[in-house]
Amino acid sequence: MQHLLSMNHLTKQEIENFIKTARTIECDRGTLPMEQTFASNIFLEPSTRTKNSFYIAERRLGMDILDLNGVDSSVTKGETLEDTLKTLEALGVQLAVVRQPETGILQQAAQGLSSLSIINAGDGTGEHPTQSLLDLYTISKEFPSFENLRVTIAGDIKHSRVARSNAYALEKLGAKVSFVAPVPWRDESISTDYITMDEACVQSDVVMLLRIQHERHVIGGQQGDYLQEFGLTKQREQRMKDDAIILHPAPVNRGVEIESSLVECRKSRIFDQMANGVVMRMAIIQTLLKGELAYEYKNYQQ
Ligand code: CP
Repeated sequence: MQHLLSMNHLTKQEIENFIKTARTIECDRGTLPMEQTFASNIFLEPSTRTKNSFYIAERRLGMDILDLNGVDSSVTKGETLEDTLKTLEALGVQLAVVRQPETGILQQAAQGLSSLSIINAGDGTGEHPTQSLLDLYTISKEFPSFENLRVTIAGDIKHSRVARSNAYALEKLGAKVSFVAPVPWRDESISTDYITMDEACVQSDVVMLLRIQHERHVIGGQQGDYLQEFGLTKQREQRMKDDAIILHPAPVNRGVEIESSLVECRKSRIFDQMANGVVMRMAIIQTLLKGELAYEYKNYQQ
């Protein structure tokens, strides 16, 4: 059985194939019929985009859908996520889309499964591979190649699963990735290449903004005048290259990491990302259920 838990497990070729498959689905609407295939969406943390775009992707593929959340699943009675996944497998479910707060837990759970595919829809501060793939798909519509493309990821890098997934993937594809963050929110395990927001806006083809992940901060508190120091202001947007684009995984905190009027400006692709999320998630489901990935989840060591 195949899983999508980390962008680090994908080859460059596999990432490119996801983009190609999403493009085929978007252009031709050509999909595999998946009647009598059950998907379970397990969301133990809030979500608007990921949860609903998976739901729409599954419906468009003709799948039957079971919804589980923190309130109506037996996780509230102390069942482990591993046992919940084994239960779904025993019931004949083929796909589980999982968002939950514990970093890295899905790697362990995947080892005990033989007929259920897992998609990581965000695990703590770990990864968000499907967001990364839809971001890459959005970028691929604007630029002919990732090779030497200058991308800046700006914001709360340390607590962002989107930053981690995109850093792995963009570097694999040959992009030059820089980061902007206040010192306490930097993560040297992702990169040591930190620049200022002014430098980022002048040099980047893609400026990817991130929300401050207050819910994951042990010690809260914003860093000074965040918008002026680290955010995208109108002044900075005017210094960006003419064909540069602005991305944000959303939800957006208007007026914090981006000036409100820029959310839908000419350079912004923020709502396009959401639309691209549906076709990319269809591509991901098809790819996994056809068994087209190489990575083996056996003998995982934490
Ligand atoms: N980008 C993203 O994951 O959004 P949601 O939390 O709304 O799913």
